[in-house]
Amino acid sequence: MKLSRTNALRGELSVPGDKSISHRSVMFGALADGLTEIRGFLNGADCLATISCFSRMGIRIEQKEDAVLVHGNGLRGLAQPQDILDCQNSGTSLRLISGILAAQPFESVLTGDESIRRRPMGRIIDPLTLMGARMESIPGNGCAPLRIHGSRLHGIRYVSPVASAQVKSAILLAGLYAEGETRVTEPYLSRNHTELMLSAFGADVQSEHNTAIIRPAARLKGQKIQVPGDISSAAFFLAAASILPGSEILIHNVGINPTRDGILQICRRMGGDVSLLNERQNAGEPVADLLVRPAPLHGTEIGGAVIPTLIDELPVIAVMACFAEGTTVIRDAAELKVKESNRIASVVQNLSAMGADITETDDGMIIRGGQPLHGAVIESHRDHRIAMAFAIAALAADGETEIPDDGCVAISYPAFFADLQKLFR
Ligand code: S3P
Repeated sequence: MKLSRTNALRGELSVPGDKSISHRSVMFGALADGLTEIRGFLNGADCLATISCFSRMGIRIEQKEDAVLVHGNGLRGLAQPQDILDCQNSGTSLRLISGILAAQPFESVLTGDESIRRRPMGRIIDPLTLMGARMESIPGNGCAPLRIHGSRLHGIRYVSPVASAQVKSAILLAGLYAEGETRVTEPYLSRNHTELMLSAFGADVQSEHNTAIIRPAARLKGQKIQVPGDISSAAFFLAAASILPGSEILIHNVGINPTRDGILQICRRMGGDVSLLNERQNAGEPVADLLVRPAPLHGTEIGGAVIPTLIDELPVIAVMACFAEGTTVIRDAAELKVKESNRIASVVQNLSAMGADITETDDGMIIRGGQPLHGAVIESHRDHRIAMAFAIAALAADGETEIPDDGCVAISYPAFFADLQKLFR
């Protein structure tokens, strides 16, 4: 994709369904009794990988035009997969499904693409092993492929060294099957979609501050789920409308769960003009329409408890920071190094190529705003959020920017470039 400066983005759009919620609705639907009907499902490559894994374990999943229908087989109804389960690029699929497979009465192997085979799995192997799971990293380096020999599990009290919803959810899903109570305490609260949705399916889940508690369930019951728009996808338009003079974008039906809304807090803290319209509840998840207009931005410090609530938005926040007056410091974000790419390195490399004044740190970056950006060839590292963040940077930069490896947007937002182009004025 080649992109150049544009004056304004104007119009309305609906971003695709939330990736985290889409994954979970298929997984929990597969383990429930009866039908789970999912509307607003994200037809992105990651969530399709989850569908494929459960299909391989005997779950009938129908992909209709307006809904995904999951015919659940109950908590003990998964069949042993005849083949390796391929999670492709999806960390959520690999880690959450591992938690489920740890308790099944069969052996299975999970793997994924080159990027996922580099990402740390010790963070789930360790706690699941403490619960009695028998699993191993086949290459022996703490990474996938993972071999899992299902076994009887018992509850644990686990204090996680990282605020990660994928780690928390893997443990909670194993806890669904374990004897006794399972508790996971995080340094900061990560997204709580697993807790909310499992509870809606009838599981016994509680939250106390940064601790999630689950007791084994006898059964889950199929649900009707309306997936809200993904705030992580909306973030690209929030950033674009904030930095491009003359813009005005209305984004419909965006999930604003407080464990995900850090981008809204930071936009406002930087002086951004974002209004929440028509706030409502949608199947236990708060939703609103977001109206965004440009505003003079200023730098800010981003660290601590807000980090897990905007972890996937940090690449595009870094882009916004280049157009803010003063310095923006992002810290406590070392988790960025183990995402689809090393997102600290990817952001610093590409923003430097565009002329930004940016310094990499151990756990984040420092951006001195106000330096005009110029076009460059962007290395996406096949990371969807890097490709989309730099498409936004390109619209506010002098000259032409090329993003050669842009197919990765299909991971979370297949129609991203088409939706963006509809807003050009
Ligand atoms: C996700 C959790 C986050 C996030 C990822 C989706 C989830 O990862 O970055 O895109 O659906 O639970 P971590 O939990 O590893 O931080």
